[in-house]
Amino acid sequence: MPPQIPPSPHGHAGHRGILENSPLPGSATSVSLKLISIISLWLLIVAASLGWNLEQAERHRERLALEAARSFFQLLVLTRRWNAEHGGVYVPVTEQTQPNPYLKDPDRDIQITNDLTLTKVNPAYMTRQLSELAQKNAGAQFHITSLNPIRPSNAALPWEADALRAFERGTKEFGQVFRGDDQWGYRYMAPLVTEKPCLKCHADQGYREGDIRGGISVTLPRLTSPNSWALIGSHIGIALCGTLLILVMGRLLIRAYDGLRRQAVFDALTRIPNRRFFIEQLVHEMRRGRREHLPLALLICDIDYFKGYNDTFGHQAGDVCLQRVAELLQGCLRRGGDFCARYGGEEFVVILPSTELSGAARIGEQIRSALVELGIPHPVSPHRVITLSIGVACDRAGEQDHEALIRDADEALYRAKEQGRNRVEIQATPLTKHKGQPSAAAIQGDLSHPSEP
Ligand code: HEC
Repeated sequence: MPPQIPPSPHGHAGHRGILENSPLPGSATSVSLKLISIISLWLLIVAASLGWNLEQAERHRERLALEAARSFFQLLVLTRRWNAEHGGVYVPVTEQTQPNPYLKDPDRDIQITNDLTLTKVNPAYMTRQLSELAQKNAGAQFHITSLNPIRPSNAALPWEADALRAFERGTKEFGQVFRGDDQWGYRYMAPLVTEKPCLKCHADQGYREGDIRGGISVTLPRLTSPNSWALIGSHIGIALCGTLLILVMGRLLIRAYDGLRRQAVFDALTRIPNRRFFIEQLVHEMRRGRREHLPLALLICDIDYFKGYNDTFGHQAGDVCLQRVAELLQGCLRRGGDFCARYGGEEFVVILPSTELSGAARIGEQIRSALVELGIPHPVSPHRVITLSIGVACDRAGEQDHEALIRDADEALYRAKEQGRNRVEIQATPLTKHKGQPSAAAIQGDLSHPSEP
């Protein structure tokens, strides 16, 4: 028959407390850091995409402008060729269309009647007139020019002169975005090459077929503004959605990861941390102790005659007993940093940060007597109830490594077992090398008469 176990004075709150509040080793902070770097990477990608798209939009706008200017130019060349093939075209003389003083042609003007005189319009004159018409509209402007103009006012602007010189070196065309008075515009220029019909009038100046006679510049005063704001807006939207998604997925992952972590580092039976968590925590706390020059104490507790208990009452009762001891341990630890774990089998460990040997021995004694008080019946034990043997060791400000500390506590536990069980023993290493530290013997003396509550 399983023993009658008195109810725990701590209830189940302790259980849940440690499950939910204890910090997990390898905790979520490293995952959060990864999350932050993933989000940064995402934002970087979106920013790069925005940059690339803006750049593409800009290029696209330029390409459109270039194509518009180019077709403009080609249309002009076509009309000019038509004119040149006729060797000039006769039109009536009016106020706007006066005979061209630069056109050296005996047949330039022909009087038809008193009211009608015709004058020959050469291609350049025609281009000029077209350009004057165009100027009245706000659209594309153009200008016929040359580095060696017959008509002085056909002289090239500085940028046109640069382009013309480039044509002479073999460049085929020139296009450029420029800043106008209050907006961006586009200017384009291409050469006018001397062809056979041109020689009728230009051979005198020494031009031959294939020479660059000059050029026509086309100016688009207003570039369509690229839709930057739509791009920026949509990218901000994408960036936000992605970040949100990463955060949500990240949270889910962290939660799943925490769940797995918990399974890996908590003891399934007692629901307190297991040996693995304990070692991580011990290493962590010892490192901190070393940094902050604080002592750290370790208790190893072993249930006395546990095999006998199991043999008498069965493993199920043994499990319940282990759970009760785990609860009791948790209940005895008051400070935030204190930590207990199941070390394995019927062995438990307690880490007490910032605690000297004497303080740790006192807490060990509290645990020991609390369990006796709990009075879990154990007929096979000479003590008649479930008891603990406890070994205590202390590391003063990081002088040892964790294995040595566990060894010291284990040795003390061994002595507690040897000396009759149900007692607390402290590590044997004399601590007299530290001034002001009570000797092991003194504490031992203290403990041999535990004050009864
Ligand atoms: C009918 C005669 C005639 C023909 C044909 C002709 N031009 Fe001209 N061209 C002129 C005259 C005259 C000027 C002087 C300025 C003006 O009229 O603006 C001129 C001016 C120019 C200019 C402007 C720079 C300057 O010198 O003032 C260019 C460029 C030009 N011609 C290229 C050509 C080309 C290329 C052809 C062949 C497609 C051609 N011309 C055919 C008579 C002609």
